[in-house]
Amino acid sequence: MKELSLHILDIVQNAISAEADNILIIIDENMIDDKLLITISDDGNGMDEQYVQQVINPFITSRKTRRVGMGLPLLKQAAIECMGDLKIESSLHIGTKVEVWFQHSHINRVPIGNMVETIITLLINGSHFNLQYTHKINEHQMTFDTRVIRQILGDVPLNHPDVIEWVRESLQGEIMELYQYYKG
Ligand SMILES: Nc1ncnc2c1ncn2[C@@H]1O[C@H](COP(=O)(O)OP(=O)(O)OP(=O)(O)O)[C@@H](O)[C@H]1O
Ligand SMILES: [Mg+2]
Repeated sequence: MKELSLHILDIVQNAISAEADNILIIIDENMIDDKLLITISDDGNGMDEQYVQQVINPFITSRKTRRVGMGLPLLKQAAIECMGDLKIESSLHIGTKVEVWFQHSHINRVPIGNMVETIITLLINGSHFNLQYTHKINEHQMTFDTRVIRQILGDVPLNHPDVIEWVRESLQGEIMELYQYYKG
């Protein structure tokens, strides 16, 4: 089974294909309610109501290279297996919000995986959009925001190798710090 960080990469890639300028990822791990909620929103091209209804069907895709789209159906299936589900809200020319949730402690719940590498992959492949990633564990949280980093960098591109290395290290540190709260 695929790690959730790879599913998140897929969903964000949909937002990039939809020409989003602003992409927001929120991972909310609530151990008190035993719920893991992942929200990915974008301000891309969006979908009309009828298309949204169809899009969890693998045979609905705007891909040109193959006729089956698996990103959303696979993630929805993984959520349903863990007492959760996936919901899409979208408006044409406004944007899309994908929410997917799981019972946090469910035995079949796939690990979150390596979010640092997901963020790094996104930065390397495209630096034209703003990306914000918030991770919450109970009442604690951290936020990574490319707008903040761009302000510091000035003219240096976000995908410069030295910048990527610095982002990797600092993000890793922040996530490790956050995960200390797992032990309570
Ligand atoms: N954020 C989004 N904004 C606009 N359209 C979207 C968005 N997410 C998905 N879609 C539409 O839903 C379709 C299905 O998405 P899905 O991720 O399931 O498959 P895919 O992207 O077509 O293929 P795959 O993910 O398997 O490479 C996409 O082809 C696209 O038309
Ligand atoms: Mg996809």
